[in-house]
Amino acid sequence: METAASAERASMEEITALAKRRGFIFQSSEIYGGINGFWDYGPLGAVLKANVKRAWWHDTVELRDDVVAFDSSIIMHPMVWKASGHVDAFADVMVDCKVCKHRFRLDHIEDRSKCPDCGSAGSFTEPRKFNLMMRTSVGPMEDSSSQAYLRPETAQGIFVNFKNIYQTARKRPPFGVAQIGKSFRNEITPGNFTFRVREFEQAELEYFVPDDGKDLECFSQWVERRKAWYAGYGIAPDRLRFYELTPQERPHYARAGVDVEYLFPWGWGELESIAHRGTYDLEAHMKLSGKDLRFFDEATKSHYTPLLIESSAGIDRTILTFLVDACERERSVDPNGKQTERTVLHFHPQIAPVQIAVFSLARNKPELVERSRAIETALRPLFRTSYDDGNIGQLYRRQDEIGTPFCVTVDYETMADGSVTVRDRDSMRQERVQAGALASYFGERL
Ligand code: GAP
Repeated sequence: METAASAERASMEEITALAKRRGFIFQSSEIYGGINGFWDYGPLGAVLKANVKRAWWHDTVELRDDVVAFDSSIIMHPMVWKASGHVDAFADVMVDCKVCKHRFRLDHIEDRSKCPDCGSAGSFTEPRKFNLMMRTSVGPMEDSSSQAYLRPETAQGIFVNFKNIYQTARKRPPFGVAQIGKSFRNEITPGNFTFRVREFEQAELEYFVPDDGKDLECFSQWVERRKAWYAGYGIAPDRLRFYELTPQERPHYARAGVDVEYLFPWGWGELESIAHRGTYDLEAHMKLSGKDLRFFDEATKSHYTPLLIESSAGIDRTILTFLVDACERERSVDPNGKQTERTVLHFHPQIAPVQIAVFSLARNKPELVERSRAIETALRPLFRTSYDDGNIGQLYRRQDEIGTPFCVTVDYETMADGSVTVRDRDSMRQERVQAGALASYFGERL
């Protein structure tokens, strides 16, 4: 049996290569040379993504009787974005290099005296504002009356529906509305793999509270809940920080703000922003639409605008965090004293795309293949499983690289006494377990 002797974090290049090789993430439209800022999730990546979304949804919606679900359209009335401030203010300041024609976000350029791509000195245009919303047009006419936007955040769909939601769900503040969905931003400089992209998914919770003096306590409770969520899925605590924004760093209307940041190989990057936004969003829509979105309190027969606490996480960045945090290169010594190396994703079992891989020790022994397939079929309704056969060392390496917590091997002993080998991904320990007991064995461990 092998035991890991040393482990080190994989580099970003290794993680990107693994993500491609094992079918987690592909460049979008690769056969045409790709398109900057867009990525596709492959067979394992799509399952990983569904697991991350389910983990968020379970904790934020299903475990709470005070949070309801929502799913709004990507394209909304353009006035939504006027009211939210996105039409006028959702912009980055950028410069163009007059020599290589590349465009940069001013705040991303470390040395402003020369172009980071071609090295030309003094080649930048004057800084200009660039709106990040993606434009499209609705209907057959392409004029200013048909212009619309792909949403740059999911939250506004909740705000404009606030009245519909509280009336039909029969909720009164404090209560929340949660949504997971695609958002689009025409980022000037997409990069760091899937960290900064132009099409991404957000998981947003909008929690409405009365202005009764308990709002800051409620804000802290959500911060604690999100901390517990990341910790519960095994994100290394020393690579995660909850940065409290100073009043100068927050928008003028915000009463508190915390950025959740992860230490990526290139430095700290924001995964989520948690903000106390006061009454800003509902009031902005009331002002422009002329509609009353205040909550009507039956008990006091009075109207009021609730305060808003928002937790807004990026699904793609969370997936990248799970990949980066889980990925290690380990060196070990096998029982014969030989040095071996493996790349392993230490995914939490709820996040791992495959939870149990079942192998037949030999591909050309029908009785072994049949028996292992029967075991995998029996486990399939209970866990995420897969079947494979061939060289056992190679099979283990492949499952380690995709983060499968357990492997089950059916061999000649199985045919004699009904036992199989169960191998644990992290410790690489192996033990014999009766095939009939596997469901309860994994039930306790997954
Ligand atoms: N409704 C609030 C809001 O959208 P934000 O800080 O702009 O706040 C929230 O975005 C989260 O969405 C970010 O913390 C990040 O995880 C994700 N996100 C934003 N822009 C992104 C991009 N270009 N690529 C990937 N994720 C992004």
